[in-house]
Amino acid sequence: MPIRTLFLFGTRPEAIKLCPVLRRLQAETDVFETKVCVTAQHRQILDQVLQAFQVVPDIDLNLMRPGQTLFQSSSRMIAALEPVFRDLKPDLAIVQGDTTTTLCGALAAFYARVPVGHVEAGLRTWDMAQPFPEEMNRVLTGRIADLHFAATPWAAGNLRREGVPAERVHVTGNSGIDAVLYVRDGLVNGTLASGMDWSFLNPARRLIVVTAHRRESFGPGFERICQALRRLAIRPGVQIVYPVHPNPNVQDPVNRLLAGQPNIHLIAPLDYIPFVDLMRRAYLLITDSGGVQEEGPSLGKPILVLREKTERPEAVEAGTVKLVGTDEDRIVAEAGKILDDEKLYERMGAVHNPYGDGQASARISAAIRSFLTK
Ligand code: UD1
Ligand code: UDP
Repeated sequence: MPIRTLFLFGTRPEAIKLCPVLRRLQAETDVFETKVCVTAQHRQILDQVLQAFQVVPDIDLNLMRPGQTLFQSSSRMIAALEPVFRDLKPDLAIVQGDTTTTLCGALAAFYARVPVGHVEAGLRTWDMAQPFPEEMNRVLTGRIADLHFAATPWAAGNLRREGVPAERVHVTGNSGIDAVLYVRDGLVNGTLASGMDWSFLNPARRLIVVTAHRRESFGPGFERICQALRRLAIRPGVQIVYPVHPNPNVQDPVNRLLAGQPNIHLIAPLDYIPFVDLMRRAYLLITDSGGVQEEGPSLGKPILVLREKTERPEAVEAGTVKLVGTDEDRIVAEAGKILDDEKLYERMGAVHNPYGDGQASARISAAIRSFLTK
């Protein structure tokens, strides 16, 4: 009998990081039968990824509501997942990361007495308020999970220090790097095309690509980030492209403070392949995204991270990422240093990627196989 795995995800980053794993297990039909349930905690930006990886879910719970609160999305998810587990009876549930879908998926699996595999396990800031609510989500998911796929030795060490038995923790690399290397290489060798018309970019200006969406920055933090971007955009020879996250708490300040500003292009969230293509064209990335700061090193790009604390210290230690928080002056000063100092720029960009080598999905598949066939 094949092993029935249930992939549970709902947001853009979970989809980007789980689709390569799903594809890998789907190819191993002698061992695995795969089922996909999306909560659709995100709708449009989840669908963009499903299309890019040509994944059609078996079950789509279609749970996103505009302006949903944490109370609303988590309570609806738990209720909607009960019949999914009852009907599919999986041997293993696979969740990724630290979102509401991750925690509710793991909890629902626990209630159904189904073992859980956690992809991108062991990230920690040890501060429950930063990032909020993600730190709590991943700590609780880690407590529930039976099998932990850590991207790096540091993340694996965190789990072991929390008492997770060593044989349940596998260092696999981050499956997001499988995705970005696949797209990067496809764009380079011409087997993939972004389909984008980039003629709105000015070739004489260096490109800063920005993304930001963290809950702990809503309100004053976003105001300061936007003021910093206005100041950076009037430096000579700079242009900014900012695909704006659909969360209304992001859309409102960003549109109010940045729409129509010179050298700032606010655009809709991009499909995954065009977004990787945009990052390739960038001189510098400024972001609070977990995924973007992991992908940047694979593209040789320095990254300023709009956060005070990180659960991804490896690229900071390697020198390719610098934490700058949401202080307006600090963002402007640190970006200025990188724009003005070519040697610093080259040092930051020339780092190998500590988060993965493109083989994470193969390692995850092998670990699941040995866990379930023992
Ligand atoms: C969520 C995750 C966060 C992750 C981020 C990735 C939680 C608590 N937060 O944050 O960890 O880093 O996704 O992007 O799980 N919306 C749309 N269309 C979409 C997606 C969102 O309109 O395709 C709007 C809706 O109004 C929705 C709101 O954004 O209610 C918030 O979405 P939600 O998933 O609750 O939080 P995010 O801020 O996206
Ligand atoms: N991304 C994308 N289109 C965009 C912006 C980001 O495809 O317009 C990708 C990006 O390459 C990365 C992922 O989305 O793989 C990051 O998602 P997000 O920032 O929403 O979440 P986080 O990683 O912070 O949880």
